[in-house]
Amino acid sequence: MSTDKLDQHAFVFVCDMHDEAVFVATNVEDNTIVANEIGGPKGKSRYFSQNGKSSSPFRGHQRLPKLIPLGRLWFMVQAASKEDFMAEAFSSGGIAVITGGASGIGRAAVRRAAAAGMRVAIIDVNPQKLAVLRAEIGQAIGADNVLAEIVDVAEFAAMEALAGVVEARWGSPTLLMNNAAAFVTGGDGGILDPNDNWQRLLAVNVLGPINGVQAFLPGMLAAGRPAAIVNTGSKQGLTNPPGNPAYNTSKAALNAYTQNLARDLRERGTKVSAHLLIPGWTTTGDAEHRPGAWRPEQVVDYMAAAIAADKFFILCPDDETPNAVDHKRILWNAFDIILDRPALSRWHQDYKEAFAAFMGKDLPDA
Ligand SMILES: NC(=O)c1ccc[n+]([C@@H]2O[C@H](COP(=O)([O-])OP(=O)(O)OC[C@H]3O[C@@H](n4cnc5c(N)ncnc54)[C@H](O)[C@@H]3O)[C@@H](O)[C@H]2O)c1
Repeated sequence: MSTDKLDQHAFVFVCDMHDEAVFVATNVEDNTIVANEIGGPKGKSRYFSQNGKSSSPFRGHQRLPKLIPLGRLWFMVQAASKEDFMAEAFSSGGIAVITGGASGIGRAAVRRAAAAGMRVAIIDVNPQKLAVLRAEIGQAIGADNVLAEIVDVAEFAAMEALAGVVEARWGSPTLLMNNAAAFVTGGDGGILDPNDNWQRLLAVNVLGPINGVQAFLPGMLAAGRPAAIVNTGSKQGLTNPPGNPAYNTSKAALNAYTQNLARDLRERGTKVSAHLLIPGWTTTGDAEHRPGAWRPEQVVDYMAAAIAADKFFILCPDDETPNAVDHKRILWNAFDIILDRPALSRWHQDYKEAFAAFMGKDLPDA
């Protein structure tokens, strides 16, 4: 057996096919586990590292490595570098599909994808903004490398048709960013807002990303290329501040959905990863930038770095709210359940002082 090509820290497991024992993990520099035990009697497992040390079986897992037949009896699990399995969000030659792409965070992602040398499909319902951005991006990377389509993400048939167009023209996306969201107005933004508002908001913010995944994922899986799906959530889906219950509900649902999506993709052993982008306060659309907010470009930079680091939760700070503050707010919300406190106790008069005291403490250990 040759280990010439293996990473310095990679482990290889060799097994006898007759035992039906099989494989396990490769391990790269930072101990990231990139494969799982597939099956077989563990007692017969042997692991080698390039420096000759053996290691114990790994349990956790992410994605399956390549298997190489080495002869009649032996198989080897090829040591794989993490990069073999991970998607870069923005990579030359890639294909980006970005919904809500004509404005704000989506537009920043479109520009970054184009600058990285990707073909870009910009999806939006705002024809004016779409036309302006199409012209800008077309000029930068050539009109053949841009699609700008008016598609309502809430319409599954339209999203399926879109997937057909993108795949026929370029192939399936390496970045699918389900980013469009509705901020429906009309009513007080409360529980008794018109039912139509609730229907519309949930259709765009929850079913929109689900439609995107159902339309594009089959092609992405079939392509077998590393690819990333990013769903844009919100801190409001995590900490649930009063004021816009429909929006909070939609983003909480998207959090639940995206976690399930990520696990499903991991269990399938695919090269497609899913990520929940959680922007902080970000200057929206063409609004004037205010101190404290992040610009959309900052969010997109943060997102790209997080995907490169294989993070699922991409919890963005802004210039007012560092991650440490968000972590405590999220935890306070979870403690509502554990400590049997009233719903949204953070905004309950009786818990005002307790919340302030909690925010002053260090985070408890997990
Ligand atoms: N801006 C913030 O502070 C902030 C904070 C947290 C989360 N977010 C999330 O970030 C994402 C982008 O927000 P933004 O601030 O860039 O907003 P934005 O208004 O600048 O852009 C949203 C775009 O989505 C498009 N869109 C709306 N409904 C659509 C539909 N049904 N189909 C297709 N396109 C549609 C709009 O036309 C618009 O161009 C949203 O998911 C939002 O919930 C934003």
